[in-house]
Amino acid sequence: MKHWRVEQVSWDRFDPSKVDPEIVPLVKAAAMVERNGDDYAIYLKRVFRGDPDFHLAAENWALEEVQHGDALGRWGEIADPGWNYAEAFARYRAGYKIDINADASIRGSRTGELIARCMVETGTSSYYTALAEATEEPVLKEVCRLIAADEYRHFKLFYDHMKRYLAREDLSFLQRLKVAAGRIGESEDDELAFAFHCSNEDPSTPYSHDRCIAGYMGRAMNFYRFRHIERGMGMVFKSVGLEPRGRLSALAARGAWRLLCWRRDRFRAALLQEAAPALAQAA
Ligand SMILES: [Fe+2]
Ligand SMILES: [Fe+2]
Repeated sequence: MKHWRVEQVSWDRFDPSKVDPEIVPLVKAAAMVERNGDDYAIYLKRVFRGDPDFHLAAENWALEEVQHGDALGRWGEIADPGWNYAEAFARYRAGYKIDINADASIRGSRTGELIARCMVETGTSSYYTALAEATEEPVLKEVCRLIAADEYRHFKLFYDHMKRYLAREDLSFLQRLKVAAGRIGESEDDELAFAFHCSNEDPSTPYSHDRCIAGYMGRAMNFYRFRHIERGMGMVFKSVGLEPRGRLSALAARGAWRLLCWRRDRFRAALLQEAAPALAQAA
């Protein structure tokens, strides 16, 4: 059912001279979150009890997400030979758990759950596209391109199921917008920050959300270009039932780009501040 396999990637083309050290911690952290996809499938199957079509789709989806983790984890181990993907993931799994014992969606409805999934896939599709375009390292470029294509297919998958549920549940435009905005706002929660901690920091270092989200976002946001945000905004608009390529979407994309640049600069300032004592010590 998968569209590609980890073994098919041209791992022997790895070129250490092309590795950007700013990308390595991001790849290692992303591997954690992706690998955790199977837990999310358990939750989705509980929320969509009695919908066998969706159950099958969620199972296949999770296989692909786990494979994203494995491919990124393998690249992380090659780029940083001292790093152990399995060990880092065991730490992540032990410390970060999503509540899989749900009887209903935490988004209030099945349509809402699917809109939230569309937001996540919009984010990952844009992110891996940005990383694929930014990196000069051929293996990472290949892996990110393959993952980005999967993420876009995932978006379409959840979007199609969302349309099916929307016809039954009839969520208002404002309700849809609220779920979408809420899920986008969660991108700076613990899921990624804790993944950054487990994959990049020593177990003896206590976890700090602020330090780790700055470590992640301060690097990740640097790789986005306006075109990625523009395309992503089109997908957000489509998910909530607005015209994806209209004037409003263009306006929102410009606003989101400004917001991203402002957040990026703040996170980078925090990163520099974090590095300052270490640099002073080294000098
Ligand atoms: Fe993924
Ligand atoms: Fe995905």
